[in-house]
Amino acid sequence: MFRQIKLTMEVLLTVLVITNKILMTNQIFKILTFIAILGFAISCATSKKGTADKVKDRGSEATPNKSAAFKPGALMYDDKGEVINAHGGGIIYANNKYYWFGEKRGRSAQEGVNVYSSGDLYNWKFEGLALATNTTDTASDIARGCLMERPKVIYNKKTGKYVMWFHLELRGKGYYAARAAVAVSDNVTGPYTYLHSFRPNGNMSRDMNLFVDDDGSAYHIFSSRENYDLRISKLTDDFLNPTTKDSMLFSRHREAPALFKYNNKYYLITSAATGWKANKASMHVADNLFGPWTFAGNPLVGPNADSTFGGQSTYVLPVQGKKDAFIFIADKWNPRDLKDSRYLLLPIQFKNKEPFIEWKDEWNLSFFDNR
Ligand code: GAL
Repeated sequence: MFRQIKLTMEVLLTVLVITNKILMTNQIFKILTFIAILGFAISCATSKKGTADKVKDRGSEATPNKSAAFKPGALMYDDKGEVINAHGGGIIYANNKYYWFGEKRGRSAQEGVNVYSSGDLYNWKFEGLALATNTTDTASDIARGCLMERPKVIYNKKTGKYVMWFHLELRGKGYYAARAAVAVSDNVTGPYTYLHSFRPNGNMSRDMNLFVDDDGSAYHIFSSRENYDLRISKLTDDFLNPTTKDSMLFSRHREAPALFKYNNKYYLITSAATGWKANKASMHVADNLFGPWTFAGNPLVGPNADSTFGGQSTYVLPVQGKKDAFIFIADKWNPRDLKDSRYLLLPIQFKNKEPFIEWKDEWNLSFFDNR
């Protein structure tokens, strides 16, 4: 609209200037010229304001600026200005960078696992699809149409390989397969080679996480028996399979396990089982990974703490180079358009050595230095 007015005024102005030059003295042309110039100036000013308003309306989310802060729940952009698409994800630190793996979502469907890298945790570079669904072989475990959820990657020092585990549901089978799947790569960003899928020691496996302990041993923590049980199994030395050191942690119908170690204790944050709908988180604590695990309440505090601030736990990230600095990561799912789901990154705080998480509109890593 404004562009049309501006264009019309520009044409009128040009015609009048030319005509006026020819007729020089005609008073009426001088008046018309003045009106045209005035109209042109007004339309320029209005159209600039219109653009500015539009940018303002779309808010800060519209500008993928270089950033040095976390804004939980706001859109996050990669280096190409695309929205970061890495849901149910996990982050590892390797070769002086963080690598964020997560579900690449369309409205609901999935093309595989995306990976992004970052030196500072604020600015992320898109590194591509670390593991793609198989588009040619419909008999493949990971045929397009399958679900690859909650991917996590760990590094195996003995084999020098990066190992990815994820929750796999087979194409066209809803959530019935309930399997864990494994892929491996020599490079952190992949591409990962798909190896196999299974129910660990015969147990159903849905929402999951991996944990590497200080001694280098790794563990798979997963929701089992229709999500009623939470189980753990120690991985083989190469991290490619579960061992039979496998045990039930507790039976409380919990999902979305996120585990971290602080002050020689293990903390496990989980969600209730309500699908994409946010619910109340809980925390369990143990001296030993195989238990006993003691219920320690909801670690989230303040307004909306009972709905995990609208999110669901996915990972706890230890921050490099800072002692006892952990970031709680949750997905704020949008079931109508899963790729539009947002991320909540919040610092874990401690009071009398007990972890808690409170909402922050905006924060940065210096938070951990000022405790
Ligand atoms: C959630 C789970 C998600 C996804 C979803 C499907 O409970 O944590 O990862 O599986 O259910 O409804």
